[in-house]
Amino acid sequence: ALLGIDIGTSGCKALLIDSKGAVLASQTETYGLSQPKPGWTEQDPQLWIDGARKAVAGVLARQPKIEIAAIGLSGQMHGLTPLDADDKVLRPALLWNDQRNGAECAEITERAGGLEGLLAHTNNRMLVGYTGGKIVWMRNHEPELFGRMTHILNPKDYLRLVLTGEKATEVSDASGTGLFDTRARKWAGGLLDILNIDPALLPPCHESHVISGRVSKSGSELFGLPVGIPVVGGGGDSVIQTIGSGVIAPGELQTTIGTAGILAVALDEPVNNPDGRLQVFCNVAPDKWHCMGVSLNAGGAMEWLRSVIGGFASDNVPTAENLSELAADAPAGSRGLFFLPYLNGERCPHPDPSARGAFVGLTARHGASDISRAIMEGVTHSLFDIYSLMEKVGIGRKLIKASGGGARSALWRQMQADLFGCDVVTTEGAAEGGAFGAALVAGVGVGIWPDAIAAANVCKSMTRESPNTANSEALQAAFRIYAELYKTLTPSFA
Ligand code: XUL
Repeated sequence: ALLGIDIGTSGCKALLIDSKGAVLASQTETYGLSQPKPGWTEQDPQLWIDGARKAVAGVLARQPKIEIAAIGLSGQMHGLTPLDADDKVLRPALLWNDQRNGAECAEITERAGGLEGLLAHTNNRMLVGYTGGKIVWMRNHEPELFGRMTHILNPKDYLRLVLTGEKATEVSDASGTGLFDTRARKWAGGLLDILNIDPALLPPCHESHVISGRVSKSGSELFGLPVGIPVVGGGGDSVIQTIGSGVIAPGELQTTIGTAGILAVALDEPVNNPDGRLQVFCNVAPDKWHCMGVSLNAGGAMEWLRSVIGGFASDNVPTAENLSELAADAPAGSRGLFFLPYLNGERCPHPDPSARGAFVGLTARHGASDISRAIMEGVTHSLFDIYSLMEKVGIGRKLIKASGGGARSALWRQMQADLFGCDVVTTEGAAEGGAFGAALVAGVGVGIWPDAIAAANVCKSMTRESPNTANSEALQAAFRIYAELYKTLTPSFA
Protein backbone atom coordinates (compact mmCIF):
# COMPACT_ATOMS: atom_id res chain seq x y z
CA ALA A 1 0.00 0.00 0.00
CA LEU A 2 0.95 3.66 -0.35
CA LEU A 3 0.47 6.35 2.28
CA GLY A 4 -0.29 9.97 1.36
CA ILE A 5 -0.21 12.67 4.06
CA ASP A 6 -1.54 16.16 3.36
CA ILE A 7 -0.80 19.07 5.69
CA GLY A 8 -3.78 21.31 4.89
CA THR A 9 -4.66 24.71 6.28
CA SER A 10 -7.59 23.43 8.33
CA GLY A 11 -6.42 19.87 9.00
CA CYS A 12 -4.19 16.94 8.14
CA LYS A 13 -5.39 14.01 6.07
CA ALA A 14 -3.74 10.57 5.94
CA LEU A 15 -4.81 8.23 3.16
CA LEU A 16 -3.90 4.63 2.30
CA ILE A 17 -4.36 3.38 -1.26
CA ASP A 18 -3.58 0.08 -2.96
CA SER A 19 -1.59 -0.39 -6.17
CA LYS A 20 -4.76 0.09 -8.27
CA GLY A 21 -5.46 3.47 -6.67
CA ALA A 22 -8.37 2.22 -4.51
CA VAL A 23 -8.75 4.01 -1.16
CA LEU A 24 -8.22 1.60 1.77
CA ALA A 25 -8.54 4.05 4.66
CA SER A 26 -8.63 7.80 5.18
CA GLN A 27 -8.62 10.02 8.23
CA THR A 28 -8.61 13.77 8.74
CA GLU A 29 -7.65 15.58 11.96
CA THR A 30 -8.59 19.24 12.06
CA TYR A 31 -6.71 22.15 13.63
CA GLY A 32 -7.04 25.92 13.63
CA LEU A 33 -4.95 28.89 12.62
CA SER A 34 -4.23 32.05 14.52
CA GLN A 35 -4.70 35.60 13.31
CA PRO A 36 -2.61 37.67 15.72
CA LYS A 37 -3.26 40.87 13.70
CA PRO A 38 -5.63 41.74 10.82
CA GLY A 39 -4.32 40.08 7.65
CA TRP A 40 -1.83 37.87 9.52
CA THR A 41 -2.28 34.08 9.50
CA GLU A 42 0.01 31.76 11.43
CA GLN A 43 0.11 28.17 12.61
CA ASP A 44 2.27 26.39 15.17
CA PRO A 45 4.02 23.60 13.16
CA GLN A 46 3.46 21.30 16.14
CA LEU A 47 -0.24 21.28 15.14
CA TRP A 48 0.76 19.70 11.81
CA ILE A 49 2.84 17.03 13.54
CA ASP A 50 0.17 16.22 16.13
CA GLY A 51 -2.51 16.16 13.40
CA ALA A 52 -0.38 13.89 11.20
CA ARG A 53 0.34 11.52 14.12
CA LYS A 54 -3.37 11.14 14.88
CA ALA A 55 -4.40 10.81 11.22
CA VAL A 56 -1.70 8.19 10.53
CA ALA A 57 -2.63 6.29 13.71
CA GLY A 58 -6.26 6.32 12.53
CA VAL A 59 -5.57 4.74 9.13
CA LEU A 60 -3.12 2.21 10.63
CA ALA A 61 -5.74 1.17 13.19
CA ARG A 62 -8.12 0.37 10.34
CA GLN A 63 -5.48 -1.53 8.33
CA PRO A 64 -3.24 -3.00 11.07
CA LYS A 65 -1.59 -5.64 8.86
CA ILE A 66 -0.89 -3.37 5.90
CA GLU A 67 2.61 -3.13 4.46
CA ILE A 68 3.48 0.39 3.31
CA ALA A 69 5.78 0.54 0.27
CA ALA A 70 6.27 4.32 0.29
CA ILE A 71 5.01 7.59 1.72
CA GLY A 72 4.25 10.81 -0.21
CA LEU A 73 3.75 14.25 1.35
CA SER A 74 1.50 17.07 0.22
CA GLY A 75 0.65 20.36 1.88
CA GLN A 76 -0.52 23.94 1.82
CA MET A 77 1.97 25.84 -0.32
CA HIS A 78 4.08 28.96 0.28
CA GLY A 79 4.22 28.73 4.11
CA LEU A 80 7.45 29.65 5.93
CA THR A 81 8.64 27.45 8.81
CA PRO A 82 11.72 29.15 10.31
CA LEU A 83 14.32 26.85 11.93
CA ASP A 84 17.45 27.55 13.98
CA ALA A 85 20.75 25.64 13.86
CA ASP A 86 19.28 22.91 16.12
CA ASP A 87 16.22 22.54 13.85
CA LYS A 88 14.03 24.21 16.51
CA VAL A 89 11.04 26.18 15.20
CA LEU A 90 11.77 29.88 15.87
CA ARG A 91 8.26 31.30 15.62
CA PRO A 92 4.83 30.16 14.33
CA ALA A 93 4.82 29.51 10.58
CA LEU A 94 3.59 32.27 8.28
CA LEU A 95 0.88 30.82 6.00
CA TRP A 96 -0.01 31.13 2.30
CA ASN A 97 -2.99 33.41 3.01
CA ASP A 98 -1.03 35.84 5.23
CA GLN A 99 -1.28 39.37 3.78
CA ARG A 100 1.42 41.21 5.76
CA ASN A 101 4.21 41.49 3.22
CA GLY A 102 2.90 43.67 0.36
CA ALA A 103 5.76 46.16 0.85
CA GLU A 104 8.36 43.36 0.75
CA CYS A 105 6.90 41.95 -2.50
CA ALA A 106 7.20 45.42 -4.04
CA GLU A 107 10.78 45.67 -2.72
CA ILE A 108 11.67 42.30 -4.27
CA THR A 109 10.12 43.22 -7.62
CA GLU A 110 11.98 46.52 -7.68
CA ARG A 111 15.33 44.94 -6.79
CA ALA A 112 14.78 42.33 -9.52
CA GLY A 113 14.42 45.11 -12.11
CA GLY A 114 10.62 45.30 -12.18
CA LEU A 115 8.07 42.69 -13.24
CA GLU A 116 9.99 41.87 -16.44
CA GLY A 117 13.17 41.23 -14.48
CA LEU A 118 11.39 39.03 -11.97
CA LEU A 119 9.66 37.04 -14.73
CA ALA A 120 13.08 36.45 -16.33
CA HIS A 121 14.31 34.84 -13.06
CA THR A 122 11.25 32.81 -12.02
CA ASN A 123 8.49 33.19 -14.67
CA ASN A 124 6.20 34.32 -11.83
CA ARG A 125 5.18 37.45 -9.96
CA MET A 126 6.03 37.64 -6.25
CA LEU A 127 2.47 37.26 -4.92
CA VAL A 128 1.87 38.34 -1.32
CA GLY A 129 1.26 34.70 -0.37
CA TYR A 130 4.63 33.41 -1.59
CA THR A 131 7.50 32.43 0.72
CA GLY A 132 10.04 34.91 -0.73
CA GLY A 133 8.23 37.97 0.62
CA LYS A 134 7.91 36.30 4.03
CA ILE A 135 11.69 35.80 4.26
CA VAL A 136 12.31 39.48 3.50
CA TRP A 137 9.56 40.47 5.96
CA MET A 138 11.35 38.57 8.73
CA ARG A 139 14.62 40.28 7.82
CA ASN A 140 12.91 43.71 7.90
CA HIS A 141 10.68 43.22 10.96
CA GLU A 142 12.15 40.46 13.13
CA PRO A 143 15.92 40.91 12.63
CA GLU A 144 16.83 39.09 15.85
CA LEU A 145 14.91 35.93 14.87
CA PHE A 146 16.07 36.30 11.28
CA GLY A 147 19.66 36.32 12.51
CA ARG A 148 19.14 32.98 14.25
CA MET A 149 17.32 31.41 11.29
CA THR A 150 19.52 28.91 9.46
CA HIS A 151 16.86 27.04 7.44
CA ILE A 152 13.35 27.53 6.13
CA LEU A 153 10.94 24.78 5.11
CA ASN A 154 7.46 24.67 3.56
CA PRO A 155 4.84 22.94 5.75
CA LYS A 156 4.99 19.42 4.26
CA ASP A 157 8.81 19.57 4.27
CA TYR A 158 8.79 20.25 8.00
CA LEU A 159 6.83 17.02 8.42
CA ARG A 160 9.52 15.32 6.29
CA LEU A 161 12.20 16.60 8.68
CA VAL A 162 10.37 15.16 11.71
CA LEU A 163 9.62 11.90 9.92
CA THR A 164 13.03 11.27 8.30
CA GLY A 165 15.55 13.73 9.75
CA GLU A 166 16.16 15.13 6.23
CA LYS A 167 15.77 18.73 5.12
CA ALA A 168 14.62 18.58 1.50
CA THR A 169 12.00 19.96 -0.85
CA GLU A 170 10.80 19.24 -4.37
CA VAL A 171 10.18 21.34 -7.48
CA SER A 172 6.45 22.11 -7.08
CA ASP A 173 6.64 23.62 -3.58
CA ALA A 174 9.96 25.27 -4.46
CA SER A 175 8.16 27.00 -7.37
CA GLY A 176 5.72 28.51 -4.86
CA THR A 177 8.50 30.28 -2.95
CA GLY A 178 8.86 32.72 -5.86
CA LEU A 179 12.64 32.16 -5.59
CA PHE A 180 12.82 29.22 -8.00
CA ASP A 181 13.84 29.20 -11.65
CA THR A 182 10.82 27.21 -12.79
CA ARG A 183 12.13 26.92 -16.37
CA ALA A 184 15.46 25.33 -15.33
CA ARG A 185 13.92 23.57 -12.27
CA LYS A 186 16.52 24.90 -9.80
CA TRP A 187 16.80 27.67 -7.19
CA ALA A 188 17.07 31.09 -8.89
CA GLY A 189 20.67 31.79 -7.81
CA GLY A 190 20.82 35.18 -9.56
CA LEU A 191 17.68 36.41 -7.80
CA LEU A 192 18.89 35.15 -4.40
CA ASP A 193 22.10 37.15 -4.99
CA ILE A 194 20.21 40.33 -5.86
CA LEU A 195 18.01 39.93 -2.78
CA ASN A 196 20.97 39.04 -0.59
CA ILE A 197 19.28 35.83 0.57
CA ASP A 198 21.76 33.14 1.60
CA PRO A 199 21.05 30.03 -0.59
CA ALA A 200 21.99 27.88 2.43
CA LEU A 201 18.66 28.94 4.01
CA LEU A 202 16.85 26.87 1.38
CA PRO A 203 16.74 23.06 1.40
CA PRO A 204 18.15 20.89 -1.41
CA CYS A 205 15.50 20.50 -4.13
CA HIS A 206 14.71 17.26 -6.00
CA GLU A 207 12.13 16.16 -8.54
CA SER A 208 8.88 15.31 -6.75
CA HIS A 209 8.94 11.49 -7.07
CA VAL A 210 12.53 11.18 -5.82
CA ILE A 211 13.02 9.44 -2.47
CA SER A 212 14.36 12.20 -0.25
CA GLY A 213 14.49 10.30 3.05
CA ARG A 214 13.39 7.24 4.98
CA VAL A 215 11.41 6.94 8.20
CA SER A 216 13.98 7.44 10.98
CA LYS A 217 14.06 5.81 14.41
CA SER A 218 12.49 8.85 16.06
CA GLY A 219 10.02 9.20 13.16
CA SER A 220 9.07 5.57 13.68
CA GLU A 221 8.46 6.11 17.40
CA LEU A 222 6.34 9.21 16.78
CA PHE A 223 4.23 7.90 13.91
CA GLY A 224 4.08 4.15 14.57
CA LEU A 225 5.53 3.44 11.13
CA PRO A 226 8.35 0.93 10.51
CA VAL A 227 11.90 2.35 10.24
CA GLY A 228 13.22 2.70 6.68
CA ILE A 229 10.02 3.26 4.64
CA PRO A 230 10.97 5.51 1.69
CA VAL A 231 9.49 9.03 1.73
CA VAL A 232 9.27 10.72 -1.68
CA GLY A 233 9.19 14.47 -2.26
CA GLY A 234 5.45 14.73 -2.98
CA GLY A 235 4.14 18.18 -3.87
CA GLY A 236 2.34 21.41 -3.05
CA ASP A 237 -1.40 20.74 -2.72
CA SER A 238 -2.76 22.73 -5.63
CA VAL A 239 -0.14 21.21 -7.96
CA ILE A 240 -0.27 17.60 -6.78
CA GLN A 241 -4.06 17.44 -6.70
CA THR A 242 -4.10 17.72 -10.51
CA ILE A 243 -2.45 14.30 -10.80
CA GLY A 244 -4.89 13.01 -8.16
CA SER A 245 -7.73 14.16 -10.43
CA GLY A 246 -6.13 12.47 -13.44
CA VAL A 247 -5.11 15.74 -15.13
CA ILE A 248 -1.84 15.13 -16.98
CA ALA A 249 -2.41 14.98 -20.78
CA PRO A 250 -2.42 18.04 -23.08
CA GLY A 251 -5.90 19.59 -23.27
CA GLU A 252 -7.08 18.25 -19.91
CA LEU A 253 -8.13 21.06 -17.58
CA GLN A 254 -8.87 20.77 -13.89
CA THR A 255 -11.51 23.08 -12.49
CA THR A 256 -11.86 23.32 -8.73
CA ILE A 257 -14.84 25.12 -7.26
CA GLY A 258 -14.08 25.39 -3.56
CA THR A 259 -14.32 28.66 -1.63
CA ALA A 260 -11.96 29.92 -4.34
CA GLY A 261 -11.88 28.68 -7.93
CA ILE A 262 -8.85 27.15 -9.65
CA LEU A 263 -8.22 26.37 -13.29
CA ALA A 264 -5.11 24.20 -13.73
CA VAL A 265 -3.39 22.28 -16.48
CA ALA A 266 -0.27 20.16 -17.04
CA LEU A 267 2.07 21.40 -19.78
CA ASP A 268 4.96 19.88 -21.75
CA GLU A 269 6.75 23.27 -21.88
CA PRO A 270 7.00 26.19 -19.43
CA VAL A 271 4.92 28.79 -21.31
CA ASN A 272 5.95 32.43 -20.83
CA ASN A 273 3.68 33.73 -18.09
CA PRO A 274 1.61 36.54 -19.71
CA ASP A 275 2.22 39.66 -17.57
CA GLY A 276 2.74 37.29 -14.67
CA ARG A 277 -1.05 36.90 -14.41
CA LEU A 278 -0.95 33.09 -14.24
CA GLN A 279 1.07 30.88 -11.91
CA VAL A 280 3.55 28.78 -13.92
CA PHE A 281 5.14 26.17 -11.64
CA CYS A 282 7.01 22.88 -12.04
CA ASN A 283 4.67 19.90 -12.17
CA VAL A 284 5.26 16.85 -9.98
CA ALA A 285 6.00 14.98 -13.25
CA PRO A 286 9.67 15.66 -14.05
CA ASP A 287 9.14 16.56 -17.71
CA LYS A 288 6.03 18.70 -17.14
CA TRP A 289 4.99 22.11 -15.90
CA HIS A 290 1.86 23.25 -14.08
CA CYS A 291 -0.06 26.34 -15.04
CA MET A 292 -2.94 27.68 -12.97
CA GLY A 293 -5.04 30.71 -12.27
CA VAL A 294 -6.85 31.23 -8.99
CA SER A 295 -10.06 33.23 -8.79
CA LEU A 296 -10.75 34.23 -5.20
CA ASN A 297 -14.54 33.89 -5.35
CA ALA A 298 -16.25 30.69 -6.47
CA GLY A 299 -18.18 28.48 -4.04
CA GLY A 300 -17.70 31.40 -1.63
CA ALA A 301 -20.11 33.48 -3.75
CA MET A 302 -22.88 30.87 -3.26
CA GLU A 303 -22.11 30.85 0.47
CA TRP A 304 -22.49 34.61 0.42
CA LEU A 305 -25.96 34.26 -1.13
CA ARG A 306 -26.89 31.72 1.53
CA SER A 307 -25.81 34.06 4.29
CA VAL A 308 -27.72 37.00 2.77
CA ILE A 309 -30.88 34.90 2.61
CA GLY A 310 -30.20 33.87 6.21
CA GLY A 311 -30.10 37.57 7.13
CA PHE A 312 -33.64 37.99 5.78
CA ALA A 313 -35.08 34.70 7.04
CA SER A 314 -32.81 32.93 9.50
CA ASP A 315 -35.24 30.02 9.99
CA ASN A 316 -35.22 29.09 6.32
CA VAL A 317 -31.65 29.17 4.95
CA PRO A 318 -31.35 27.08 1.77
CA THR A 319 -28.52 24.59 1.28
CA ALA A 320 -26.13 24.89 -1.66
CA GLU A 321 -28.07 21.98 -3.22
CA ASN A 322 -31.37 23.91 -2.86
CA LEU A 323 -29.83 26.91 -4.64
CA SER A 324 -28.51 24.73 -7.45
CA GLU A 325 -32.01 23.20 -7.89
CA LEU A 326 -33.55 26.69 -7.98
CA ALA A 327 -30.98 27.81 -10.55
CA ALA A 328 -31.98 24.94 -12.81
CA ASP A 329 -35.39 26.62 -13.27
CA ALA A 330 -33.83 29.67 -14.98
CA PRO A 331 -32.69 29.56 -18.61
CA ALA A 332 -29.03 29.67 -19.73
CA GLY A 333 -27.96 33.30 -19.61
CA SER A 334 -30.17 34.00 -16.56
CA ARG A 335 -32.51 36.23 -18.63
CA GLY A 336 -29.77 38.79 -19.19
CA LEU A 337 -28.64 39.02 -15.57
CA PHE A 338 -24.84 39.12 -15.05
CA PHE A 339 -22.92 38.54 -11.83
CA LEU A 340 -19.30 39.60 -11.28
CA PRO A 341 -17.99 37.42 -8.46
CA TYR A 342 -15.19 39.69 -7.12
CA LEU A 343 -16.60 39.77 -3.58
CA ASN A 344 -13.10 39.65 -2.03
CA GLY A 345 -11.14 41.34 -4.79
CA GLU A 346 -9.54 39.15 -7.44
CA ARG A 347 -6.21 37.40 -8.17
CA CYS A 348 -6.61 36.07 -11.72
CA PRO A 349 -7.12 37.16 -14.47
CA HIS A 350 -7.28 40.58 -12.75
CA PRO A 351 -4.64 40.94 -10.03
CA ASP A 352 -6.78 43.55 -8.26
CA PRO A 353 -7.56 43.48 -4.54
CA SER A 354 -9.98 46.39 -5.00
CA ALA A 355 -12.17 44.65 -7.60
CA ARG A 356 -15.78 44.43 -6.39
CA GLY A 357 -18.74 42.15 -7.07
CA ALA A 358 -21.79 43.31 -9.03
CA PHE A 359 -25.14 42.30 -10.47
CA VAL A 360 -25.64 43.94 -13.86
CA GLY A 361 -28.88 43.98 -15.86
CA LEU A 362 -31.23 43.42 -12.92
CA THR A 363 -34.95 43.89 -13.66
CA ALA A 364 -38.16 43.41 -11.69
CA ARG A 365 -38.84 40.12 -13.49
CA HIS A 366 -35.67 38.49 -12.17
CA GLY A 367 -36.44 36.07 -9.35
CA ALA A 368 -34.60 33.81 -6.96
CA SER A 369 -33.85 31.23 -9.65
CA ASP A 370 -32.28 33.83 -11.98
CA ILE A 371 -30.17 35.24 -9.14
CA SER A 372 -28.94 31.77 -8.11
CA ARG A 373 -28.18 30.88 -11.70
CA ALA A 374 -26.46 34.21 -12.42
CA ILE A 375 -24.07 33.56 -9.52
CA MET A 376 -23.23 30.07 -10.79
CA GLU A 377 -22.77 31.42 -14.31
CA GLY A 378 -20.64 34.33 -13.08
CA VAL A 379 -18.30 31.89 -11.31
CA THR A 380 -18.15 29.74 -14.46
CA HIS A 381 -17.38 32.88 -16.51
CA SER A 382 -14.56 33.77 -14.11
CA LEU A 383 -12.97 30.34 -14.74
CA PHE A 384 -13.34 30.77 -18.50
CA ASP A 385 -11.82 34.27 -18.13
CA ILE A 386 -8.71 32.56 -16.69
CA TYR A 387 -8.80 30.08 -19.54
CA SER A 388 -8.86 32.97 -22.06
CA LEU A 389 -5.41 33.98 -20.75
CA MET A 390 -4.22 30.38 -21.12
CA GLU A 391 -5.63 30.16 -24.63
CA LYS A 392 -3.56 33.19 -25.64
CA VAL A 393 -0.37 31.24 -24.82
CA GLY A 394 -1.51 28.22 -26.81
CA ILE A 395 -3.06 26.03 -24.10
CA GLY A 396 -5.82 23.87 -25.61
CA ARG A 397 -8.98 22.36 -24.11
CA LYS A 398 -10.34 18.90 -24.76
CA LEU A 399 -11.74 17.68 -21.46
CA ILE A 400 -12.48 19.18 -18.05
CA LYS A 401 -11.97 17.18 -14.86
CA ALA A 402 -14.09 18.92 -12.24
CA SER A 403 -13.35 18.87 -8.50
CA GLY A 404 -14.17 20.74 -5.29
CA GLY A 405 -17.57 21.05 -3.60
CA GLY A 406 -19.02 22.76 -6.71
CA ALA A 407 -18.42 19.59 -8.76
CA ARG A 408 -21.21 17.91 -6.77
CA SER A 409 -23.74 20.08 -8.67
CA ALA A 410 -24.64 18.49 -12.04
CA LEU A 411 -25.92 21.90 -13.18
CA TRP A 412 -22.56 23.56 -12.44
CA ARG A 413 -20.74 20.79 -14.34
CA GLN A 414 -23.16 21.20 -17.27
CA MET A 415 -22.50 24.99 -17.31
CA GLN A 416 -18.77 24.29 -17.56
CA ALA A 417 -19.39 21.87 -20.45
CA ASP A 418 -21.58 24.45 -22.20
CA LEU A 419 -19.25 27.44 -21.76
CA PHE A 420 -15.94 25.65 -22.42
CA GLY A 421 -17.51 23.56 -25.22
CA CYS A 422 -16.03 20.26 -24.05
CA ASP A 423 -17.03 17.29 -21.90
CA VAL A 424 -16.81 17.56 -18.11
CA VAL A 425 -16.05 14.47 -16.02
CA THR A 426 -15.55 13.87 -12.32
CA THR A 427 -12.92 11.34 -11.27
CA GLU A 428 -12.47 8.95 -8.39
CA GLY A 429 -9.88 10.25 -5.98
CA ALA A 430 -10.39 13.93 -6.81
CA ALA A 431 -12.36 14.39 -3.59
CA GLU A 432 -9.39 13.13 -1.55
CA GLY A 433 -7.33 16.17 -2.64
CA GLY A 434 -3.57 16.41 -2.17
CA ALA A 435 -3.22 13.23 -0.08
CA PHE A 436 -4.35 11.09 -3.02
CA GLY A 437 -1.92 12.75 -5.43
CA ALA A 438 0.87 12.33 -2.85
CA ALA A 439 0.16 8.59 -2.56
CA LEU A 440 0.28 8.30 -6.38
CA VAL A 441 3.62 10.13 -6.57
CA ALA A 442 4.96 7.85 -3.81
CA GLY A 443 3.99 4.89 -6.03
CA VAL A 444 5.95 6.39 -8.94
CA GLY A 445 8.96 6.82 -6.62
CA VAL A 446 9.12 3.11 -5.82
CA GLY A 447 8.25 1.86 -9.31
CA ILE A 448 4.61 0.77 -8.79
CA TRP A 449 3.84 2.98 -11.80
CA PRO A 450 6.51 3.74 -14.40
CA ASP A 451 5.71 7.47 -14.45
CA ALA A 452 3.23 10.14 -13.43
CA ILE A 453 1.15 9.60 -16.58
CA ALA A 454 0.52 5.96 -15.66
CA ALA A 455 -0.24 6.98 -12.07
CA ALA A 456 -2.72 9.72 -13.15
CA ASN A 457 -4.46 7.19 -15.38
CA VAL A 458 -5.63 5.11 -12.40
CA CYS A 459 -8.24 7.86 -11.84
CA LYS A 460 -11.46 6.52 -13.38
CA SER A 461 -14.23 8.85 -14.56
CA MET A 462 -17.49 8.68 -12.58
CA THR A 463 -19.85 11.19 -14.25
CA ARG A 464 -19.83 12.88 -17.65
CA GLU A 465 -21.66 15.95 -19.00
CA SER A 466 -21.46 16.97 -22.69
CA PRO A 467 -22.13 20.44 -24.15
CA ASN A 468 -25.71 21.31 -25.07
CA THR A 469 -25.53 23.35 -28.29
CA ALA A 470 -28.30 25.88 -27.60
CA ASN A 471 -27.05 26.58 -24.06
CA SER A 472 -23.45 26.78 -25.32
CA GLU A 473 -24.36 29.56 -27.71
CA ALA A 474 -26.26 31.49 -25.04
CA LEU A 475 -23.45 31.17 -22.48
CA GLN A 476 -20.67 32.00 -24.89
CA ALA A 477 -22.55 35.12 -26.03
CA ALA A 478 -23.02 36.06 -22.36
CA PHE A 479 -19.30 35.51 -21.68
CA ARG A 480 -18.32 38.05 -24.35
CA ILE A 481 -20.35 40.68 -22.46
CA TYR A 482 -19.12 39.50 -19.02
CA ALA A 483 -15.50 39.83 -20.15
CA GLU A 484 -16.00 43.58 -20.84
CA LEU A 485 -17.77 44.37 -17.56
CA TYR A 486 -14.67 44.37 -15.33
CA LYS A 487 -13.09 47.16 -17.34
CA THR A 488 -16.35 49.11 -17.60
CA LEU A 489 -17.01 48.94 -13.87
CA THR A 490 -13.43 49.55 -12.63
CA PRO A 491 -14.05 53.30 -11.99
CA SER A 492 -16.85 52.34 -9.58
CA PHE A 493 -14.58 50.11 -7.44
CA ALA A 494 -13.70 52.39 -4.53
C1 XUL B 1 -1.71 27.97 -4.20
C2 XUL B 1 -2.34 28.45 -2.94
C3 XUL B 1 -3.21 27.52 -2.15
C4 XUL B 1 -2.46 26.91 -1.00
C5 XUL B 1 -3.45 26.44 0.08
O1 XUL B 1 -1.03 28.96 -4.90
O2 XUL B 1 -2.16 29.58 -2.54
O3 XUL B 1 -3.77 26.55 -2.95
O4 XUL B 1 -1.59 25.93 -1.46
O5 XUL B 1 -3.79 25.20 0.15
